[in-house]
Amino acid sequence: MRFVHAFEPASGRAGGTTLLLLHGTGGDEHDLLPLGRALAPGAALLSPRGPVLENGMPRWFRRRGEGVFDLEDLGRRTDELAAFIEEATARYALDAGRVVAVGFSNGANIAASVLLRRPGVLSAAALLSPMLPYEPPAPSALAGTSVFISAGRADPFAPGAQVERLAALLRGAGADVRVHWRPGGHAIDPADVEAVKGWIGGLVSLPGPA
Ligand code: MLT
Repeated sequence: MRFVHAFEPASGRAGGTTLLLLHGTGGDEHDLLPLGRALAPGAALLSPRGPVLENGMPRWFRRRGEGVFDLEDLGRRTDELAAFIEEATARYALDAGRVVAVGFSNGANIAASVLLRRPGVLSAAALLSPMLPYEPPAPSALAGTSVFISAGRADPFAPGAQVERLAALLRGAGADVRVHWRPGGHAIDPADVEAVKGWIGGLVSLPGPA
């Protein structure tokens, strides 16, 4: 398969949900597994490693500086990640209609890009400390997609206006968006974990295949 990844099969009845775990810059496929287990016990966990290296640190797409993204690379990498998700759902016999991304920082940014560029690939996404990756040229079609955004009021990389713009774009595309503002900066906060867990619980309890 095209990405190095970790996979944990579903071990309980979590409504056929798969969590797609997308680490931040410098992370790897193991980083978010404990978070995934805590957020949705029993769900399948699919955790790829970002394919780009920046000074030895895995990322999901290239950047020219802090917050200055290589948009051509971002587009290509977004398509690659979408293709990986399709490959993995076939290989592991996952429900392609119940893939929920959980991404932190650079992982949240590629998840936002998948939502905007490849609507329908993710059924839902939790974006932890996201930025606005780019202004899409045309609106996407995200009706029926749920998005949870957790943002720190003191995040130096993701100013509030950028987070609000991302939420507005997703809402404008028809997504059901919840924004959770918290004190603090660019991090996965323990309070986030509880909030995201509650949000995922709502998705997982929807009627679905066993
Ligand atoms: C990071 O350090 O990963 C950035 O703040 C987010 C990004 O580059 O996508």
